[in-house]
Amino acid sequence: MEIRAIDTPLLDWAGDGLAIGLFEDAVELKGNLETLDEKFAGVLKELIAETEFKGKEDSSAATRVGAGSPVRKVILVGLGKPDTLKLENWRRAAAAVARLAKKEKCKTLLISLPVWNNDPAATAQAIAEGIQLALFQDNRFKSEPEDKGSLEQVDLLGLEGQEEAINRANQICSGVILARELVAAPANAVTPITMAKTAQEIASSYGLQVEILEREDCEQLGMGAFLGVAQASDLPPKFIHLTYKPEGTPRRKLAIVGKGVTFDSGGLNIKGAGSGIETMKMDMGGAAATLGAAKAIGQLKPDVEVHFISAVTENMISGHAIHPGDVLKASNGKTIEVNNTDAEGRLTLADALVFAEKLGVDAIVDLATLTGACVIALGDDIAGLWSTDDAVATQLAQAGEIAGEKLWRMPMEEKYFEGMKSQIADMKNTGPRAGGSITAAVFLKQFVKETPWAHLDIAGTVWTEKENGYKSAGATGFGVRTLVNWVLGNN
Ligand code: BES
Ligand code: MN
Ligand code: ZN
Repeated sequence: MEIRAIDTPLLDWAGDGLAIGLFEDAVELKGNLETLDEKFAGVLKELIAETEFKGKEDSSAATRVGAGSPVRKVILVGLGKPDTLKLENWRRAAAAVARLAKKEKCKTLLISLPVWNNDPAATAQAIAEGIQLALFQDNRFKSEPEDKGSLEQVDLLGLEGQEEAINRANQICSGVILARELVAAPANAVTPITMAKTAQEIASSYGLQVEILEREDCEQLGMGAFLGVAQASDLPPKFIHLTYKPEGTPRRKLAIVGKGVTFDSGGLNIKGAGSGIETMKMDMGGAAATLGAAKAIGQLKPDVEVHFISAVTENMISGHAIHPGDVLKASNGKTIEVNNTDAEGRLTLADALVFAEKLGVDAIVDLATLTGACVIALGDDIAGLWSTDDAVATQLAQAGEIAGEKLWRMPMEEKYFEGMKSQIADMKNTGPRAGGSITAAVFLKQFVKETPWAHLDIAGTVWTEKENGYKSAGATGFGVRTLVNWVLGNN
């Protein structure tokens, strides 16, 4: 599918679907739109009246234009009030139009939206993102694809000259879609081996460096926490380290770390009935976002050095499994009493964070489907953000705001570490049930010494049961666009 910025006059465009955006309570057709309506024998006015179309956010309508017309269908999309309009509204409006056009079997589509602000590049990027992400459909595991028809060409009116912004959107969306595909694929399709292969493919396609540490390499580095989690699986763990280096001197050096548990059974503290064990293929959503961001950054080529890190394994049970109560030693020398084998993500992240800090980066951000407690606190639309550094927290909050990915800063309450005191080791891996997402963050903090660091708990946002705006039902690819904005410094 191709998105073009064109300058054909609205009245001359010919194709399958023609979409018009209208602001709330401003649906009377004026100027060009009135002429267009006359050309189409009044179908636009009729459609507005029949559907009581008011231009409200997330509203849309479509109808057939008379036979013999150069346009087959007209589509209306509501934009809401102009004074509250954000980039996210453009994304959602574009998504609604794209979905409707697809449903109406359009192969070609024109979108005409009033360009309301003085940032046409950001507008064009948001619209292209909305279209690409809404049209994504995963047919990999169906013997017959569910939807055969597809949009082939989308023309954007009023955004001529914005090819670069559209191209940027395409590059970013390729990363989001990779993340969605990795998360949605079941645990028998995406394993630690698949994740490592994906990293290698990204490296060779976009010129990144890649290093895959095998079990023995991790042993050498003393990664006892990560390897403890990995020891029950029949699959080999893979520690992924991808590096993007710009051509000149990097403006800054960053590390992105993702939790990569390709399946979380809970280990011997096995997840019981009703615990959602069958959804735990998504427990590598942080690693998927990390690889998605690597794919996008590899194409965008910013002047920033970025390290993409993930300690990938399954959390399984077998005769080799860690016992609840075992003591593991992480690569920074700290010892951990594993009082719950289901709190495995933080064990894998501990060694990944130590590795990241040793690279001497300016800041580290980790993403992890870490706790059910975060889902209880913030629901499935908002990720938790913890940080030891106000500047990094602000950068991420702004990067998320521009991306339309919601983050909410949570307290790094170090006092809660008391709840993880261990008789036998330096700490336990879990504290009391109350404040479970906070103790998880405080646990991670034990493995970052002084580098500015932030932790995103994406347990809720990685998945959506229902299609919503440009999110398709299932994996969301959450985090990729926020990370890209953060690295680019678009905040
Ligand atoms: N992967 C889970 C967290 C999770 C829960 C992700 C729900 C997505 C949706 C994590 O490894 C886990 O099991 N966490 C435990 C921690 C507990 C044992 C302290 C949890 O949240 O119950
Ligand atoms: Mn778990
Ligand atoms: Zn987990």
